Amino acid sequence: MKSRHIFLAASALALSATPALAQTPPETAGDAVMAADTRGTPDERAAAMLAQMTQGEKLTLLMGYFGEDFAPANYTRMPEARAGSAGYVPGIPRLGIPPQWQADAGIGVATQGGAASKRGRTALPSGLATAASWDAVAAFASGAMIGSEARADGFNVLLAGSVNLIREPRGGRNFEYAGEDPLLAGVMVGRQIAGIQSNNIISTSKHFAVNAQETDRGAGNSVVDEAALRMADLLAFQIAHEVGQPGSVMCAYNRVNGPYSCENRFLLTQVLREEWGWPGYVMSDWGAVHSTAPSIVAGLDQESGFGLQSDAWLRTDRVQAALAAGEITQAHINTAAHRILRSLFAHGLVDHPVAEGQPIDFAANRTVSQAAAEGGIVLLKNERGLLPLANTARRIVVIGGHADRGVLSGGGSSQVYPGDGPDGGNAVPGLEPRTWPGPVVYYPSSPLEELRALLPDADISFHDGRDHEGAAAAANAADLAIVFATQWASESIDVPLHVEDDTLVESVAMNQRNTVVVLQTGGPVLMPWAARVPAIVQAWYPGRNGGAAIARVLTGAVNPSGHLPVTFPRSLSQLPQPGDPQPGDVVYTEGAAVGYKWFDAHGHDPLFPFGHGLSYTSFGMSGLTVEPRGHGVVARFTLTNTGPREGADVAQIYVSGDGWEAPRRLGGFAKANLQPGETRELEVTVDPRLLAVWDSANPGWRRAAGTYTVSLGENSRAMADSVEITLPASHLPPTWKPE
Ligand code: BGC
Repeated sequence: MKSRHIFLAASALALSATPALAQTPPETAGDAVMAADTRGTPDERAAAMLAQMTQGEKLTLLMGYFGEDFAPANYTRMPEARAGSAGYVPGIPRLGIPPQWQADAGIGVATQGGAASKRGRTALPSGLATAASWDAVAAFASGAMIGSEARADGFNVLLAGSVNLIREPRGGRNFEYAGEDPLLAGVMVGRQIAGIQSNNIISTSKHFAVNAQETDRGAGNSVVDEAALRMADLLAFQIAHEVGQPGSVMCAYNRVNGPYSCENRFLLTQVLREEWGWPGYVMSDWGAVHSTAPSIVAGLDQESGFGLQSDAWLRTDRVQAALAAGEITQAHINTAAHRILRSLFAHGLVDHPVAEGQPIDFAANRTVSQAAAEGGIVLLKNERGLLPLANTARRIVVIGGHADRGVLSGGGSSQVYPGDGPDGGNAVPGLEPRTWPGPVVYYPSSPLEELRALLPDADISFHDGRDHEGAAAAANAADLAIVFATQWASESIDVPLHVEDDTLVESVAMNQRNTVVVLQTGGPVLMPWAARVPAIVQAWYPGRNGGAAIARVLTGAVNPSGHLPVTFPRSLSQLPQPGDPQPGDVVYTEGAAVGYKWFDAHGHDPLFPFGHGLSYTSFGMSGLTVEPRGHGVVARFTLTNTGPREGADVAQIYVSGDGWEAPRRLGGFAKANLQPGETRELEVTVDPRLLAVWDSANPGWRRAAGTYTVSLGENSRAMADSVEITLPASHLPPTWKPE
């Protein structure tokens, strides 16, 4: 019997299971209530299952295995695990409880392990690119698409929902995240989670909490005072949970204010359960558990990734020993198993079982990815109307960034492979690092070829950019140069705040006044050449059809509408932590003033501010009015396309109050696509937590009576209109949720 076989395999690896637990459960259902019985709420169904389960079966749910062979730990994957996947938790066949098949991550179905296990799947643009679209509808569609591929591959848990705030612009995983603002990140990731879960599978939210850098991530301690956590990092998760209702939370590798995230009672029990009322289960990050009883007592329900690390803490024998020693109670085990079962029922994993090998419409899915990329590309600068490129007979040279072959992606566990071919279809194979945290993967979507297709009358040549003098000469001989500048980032490393070849950009810009720079970076970069370059386009990691998305934006087939979800600094000295990321205690002295809030509070002039993004048309915003609604306020205004082209804009509402961490906070936003001359009335509701501060003395959201300013802007530094509103004092409890 399969579960028995798995149980023994686990025992062999995990040393001895106690004899009482190793007993064979009944072979047949008999009088058992099967999981397929759909009567009752998820909680009632979970309780019915739990009542019938042996201790061994309950403990099975608490332990997840790496989904692929892992030679360093001499580990062979479980027979039922999906090849090349992140994780596997055995099911309980006699009750009809399915295994949990887990795959990474937020941009699509990733592959772990070697070339033999590679599965080619559709990569979205990076999480940061999706956030840059400020388009919650697109975020849902993106999530729904990758969730459908996960389901088609037989995965029922997608390890997505990365909602860590960007506190460290050099963080190697910033590309997976959704920016520096808790509202924007929470809404965008929440909608993506909802899209994923619309496939009757679970999405996580992760990495709970404050996994803001990769340096020393396994032991480092993120130090942030509680009020700041509440108003920044935790608020992003809280909003993502309200919007997306993830079935699971992944606790992070790092410590938070002392305890490891995965044994942090404040995070896992007080905040998640007692205050937010979240009913799901907490799984650990892969190898992020450091204890048995303290973790379980703190609120951890499931350890992940056994096999990847050589030992495990929620091993059956260890949990039993902790129970025997009185360090945990049977109620702890029952509660953990119940939460896991409840999510399996609540999110459709039992009623809509997954099966491997279902057909995938890759052509359709690539169009979803391309649309997301097109919505997230940000036009940072466009002097003299250099862009869009017209289809005229002129010489254009495309330089560097392997733009003749494809577009860059970010590395680590979230790496989605493009499929086809012996090397996973990597358009530029062989770049270093080839092994973890590599390989470096370029998706086969060439911006050069796409430009040639869109501009048939132009004479478009390519220079690989390795020889700077040659590139400069080619630029000089052309009418216009497009330099592709890249920064590869990956999980497990932090990265310099630069593109790989600033001097190439300098050389080209000095030789060609019509130079366009296209950036493919994990997050913000410094641009020492920015003043000398008339046009800059931020394409992030643009995903599987990124070359087409870039070309369509450059040529105006798509009017750019992305806005920055993160501040681009002018210099390292403007950052709260100017020095390189350090191990040990990382004290986030900026507190809740993350990103633009820090820049505003300290009067730093960024290179490009949060919220910034240009268009090929122009917009007017006016008529701002504000009135109270519920505990918050509602802002109304009109947005008009005052220019010659159809285009979308992101109207941003900022709020200001006395005694806050920063002069202004993003209070809401609305993206609207308008025809030339079209006007739209828009309404944005401001969450009352964004008009309050966290009150540590009397826990909750405290708003002082007084005058608040509500502003309507194009970005965090450009307000079109402002009004004041007087609001009474209020105090909302930590359990408060929007309706
Ligand atoms: C990452 C997680 C990922 C997990 C499983 C870890 O290294 O931090 O984000 O989901 O691996 O692959």
